Amino acid sequence: MPHRIITIDGPAGAGKTTVSTLLAQDLGCIRVDTGALYRGVAYEIMQQDIAWENDAVLKRFLSTLDLQFHLEKEGLRLFSSGKDITDQIRTSRITMLASAASAKPDVRSALLALQRGIAGQQDAVFEGRDMGTVVFPDAAVKFFLFADLSVRARRRYDETQDENKDFSRVMAEMAKRDTDDTQRAQAPLKPAPDAIHIDASFLTPRQVVDKMRTYL
Ligand code: DC
Repeated sequence: MPHRIITIDGPAGAGKTTVSTLLAQDLGCIRVDTGALYRGVAYEIMQQDIAWENDAVLKRFLSTLDLQFHLEKEGLRLFSSGKDITDQIRTSRITMLASAASAKPDVRSALLALQRGIAGQQDAVFEGRDMGTVVFPDAAVKFFLFADLSVRARRRYDETQDENKDFSRVMAEMAKRDTDDTQRAQAPLKPAPDAIHIDASFLTPRQVVDKMRTYL
């Protein structure tokens, strides 16, 4: 029997991470944060000082990339070439670089097989930007989660790891990311035609999940 895949797409800070974690717990399956993979790419670009805007350099770099999720008690952790980088990929520099590099078709195709490979092994809730549109067009149920920009910026501000964080900068960067993520040519952020839209601006994560479960 094919595995049941549920997708949650939406802009940064809409609450996809919290909601997908709760939903996966309720359903007893894994949750896959695909943004972490793009962040993993950005992390390695920074570590290795890769001139990623050059397509030939990027291709060579991607052919050496070794990102893997490992299932541990608290959920999936991201490893790059055997090293756990899960706790090092949430800085604003990585955030902006992940968004920029994710516009490159070669980056997207390098991560596609990895994402589909995980789905071939077990039931899962996948969260990202193009889960319902590109990666899993045949998913069992697709959600598109959104919220007001100011609500999303506040959440991202609260979770960012930078010491000199500044709310207005977080909000400006988020607005820029919204534009970049929705207007890029490759797999832009948009709802799948058959996605269920949920506005999370004034709902708690539990309320969002309860609403989602009425569609399952
Ligand atoms: O969800 P996040 O903020 O961790 O994602 C970081 C960046 O990765 C985001 O700006 C766009 C990109 N991304 C993507 O292009 N496709 C996905 N499925 C997930 C993330």
